[in-house]
This record gives sequence, structure tokens and C-alpha cells, in this order.
Amino acid sequence: MSFFPIEQAPPRLNRSELAVPGSQFNMFQKAADSDVDIIFLDLEDAVAPDEKEQARKNIIKALNEIDWGKKTMSIRINGLDTHYMYKDVVYIVEQAGERLDLIMIPKVGTAADVYAVDMIVTQVEDAMGYKKRIGFELIIETALGMQNVSEIAAASKRNESLHFGVADYAASTRARTTSIGGVHPDYSVLTDKVEDEARQTHWGDMWHYAIARMVVAARANGLRPIDGPFGDFKDHDGFRAAAKRAAVLGCEGKWAIHPSQIELANEVMSPSDAEILKANRILEAMADAEASGKGAVSLDGRLIDYASIKQAEVLVEKAKQIAGQ
Ligand code: GLV
Ligand code: MG
Repeated sequence: MSFFPIEQAPPRLNRSELAVPGSQFNMFQKAADSDVDIIFLDLEDAVAPDEKEQARKNIIKALNEIDWGKKTMSIRINGLDTHYMYKDVVYIVEQAGERLDLIMIPKVGTAADVYAVDMIVTQVEDAMGYKKRIGFELIIETALGMQNVSEIAAASKRNESLHFGVADYAASTRARTTSIGGVHPDYSVLTDKVEDEARQTHWGDMWHYAIARMVVAARANGLRPIDGPFGDFKDHDGFRAAAKRAAVLGCEGKWAIHPSQIELANEVMSPSDAEILKANRILEAMADAEASGKGAVSLDGRLIDYASIKQAEVLVEKAKQIAGQ
């Protein structure tokens, strides 16, 4: 192990993260009653310019008055290149900062973007005398943000998670697709010509590189990597497949842009009973081996090493978090 310590973000369940437009006050109670882990009340792209001010007011009222239970509450502020952002931060943190856990910063391009928001949030928190510190969720959704993802991930002690914003990322990189988070028939491999055999087309995952790169930057800085939206909310199988791919790469959560996606995200991002059982057996086998002074251990004919133990511990910890929510 490197001598360099990686400080981990505060442990929070983040299997599902529901996007709720700040302008739609009538949707808030349903979100509060849902099984989602994190809710972000949006001020950015789901809110039209002439509704930004009302959305801010709605969010302040809702954070103060709705019973959100144990849910982690976040707001997505407008981009740093707009004139809305400073009021999003100052008004909401001043007037509802005690119930706000996280601020989501969209289209982060450089570490300095994070620094700038950190500076404003710190001033407001200090002026208000808040004891709790608000954390940051950062959306990586531009070519610039992806290029600087490592510096961005390390830019503030408030950072908790990196999110892959596939829709804006596709626009920024000029990817030839209009689907949000889905696959594309042109991103495929055609098998070689072999005499008398039909050639096959194997679809690939055009987001693999971006998500994998974000996961590395997140984990190297102790942050949660979270996969972003899947646009076709009627396609549950497509959502599940995208969430599974992201989970296999290391993401621990996925956005829900529609309430019907919450359960799917929770299902894919929770360890199964069989996985939890296996993890507990690994930990027991290791504890027995240690007690009897053995170094290497095997379980069901496979060697268990310290990496397996770490994986098992992470799984068991996640299961405890889910059980205790
Ligand atoms: C999310 O903000 C996205 O652009 O996908
Ligand atoms: Mg976006």
C-alpha cells in the first residue's frame, strides 16, 4: 500500500439519486415519501430562466417545511458561467442551510470552479454560525471537466462524489448520439469475414472510458463515483443494464430522473443476499485463520487474500448502512 493516505468522504448511501425540478413544488412531497437515498432539488437545466427565482423560493420553503426524514438533501445550483449561481448558493444556504447536506455543482471544468463555490459557501456558513459543513457533489459532464477530473476530485475537503453527466458530456464532446445514457448501434464491432459464417455485430458501451476514468479519479480521492441519467424512463431493462455496467466499473449509485427508476437503482446498487453471505463467510474464515496463526486461507477452493477481505468489509459495511437507514 502506498504511504499516501486517502481520506474517505463521509459514508452515505447513494444508491439512487432523484432529480426533482425546483420549479415543481407539487413533486416534492412524493419525492420525500419515496425510497430514494439522495434527492437533488434542481435549479439548473430542468428549470427555465424565468422560473429560476421561484424555484429558489420553492426550495427554501421545502427544505424548511417538508419532512424529508433521513434523506440526504442536495440542490443543483446553476453553472458558474451564469448570473444565477451566487444567489442559488447565498440565498439557499442562508435561509435553509441547516437542512441542506450537499450542493451539486454542474459542469465543473477546473479545480478553481470548486474553489470558488467553496469560498462562498464557507463565508455563508461562518456568517450563519452553522456547525455542519455542506458537502459537494461534482458533475463531470464536459470535455474540460473530464480532462481535469483528477484535480477537480482533489479540489476541496467538501467533495463527496463525482457524477457522470452523460447528456452534457455527449454534447460537449460532440458525440454522435442523442440518447441519454443509452447505447448506439454505430458503436459496435463487426466480426471478421469467415467463410460461410454469418458476420455478427456486437454492441459496445460508448461511455465505458468516461465512466472508468471518473471512477479512478473518484476512488483515488476517497469520493463516491455515481452514474448519471438514463433518459428513456420506460425502458427498465435498458436502465438496469446501464446501472449494472456502471456498478461493475465501481460506481455505487445512479441517478433517477423519474420516480420509477428509484427502485431499479436501489436494486442494482445494493449487494445481493448471496453476496453478503459470501462476504461474511470470507471475514469469518479470515478471523479463524488469524486465530490459528495461518497466513493464507482458502474458502470453497479459492485463495482469500487481503484484497478479498477489504472487498468483503466494504460489502458488509454497505449492507449495514442499508439495514440501518
Ligand atoms: C446531467 O446533468 C447530464 O447532463 O447528463
Ligand atoms: Mg447536465
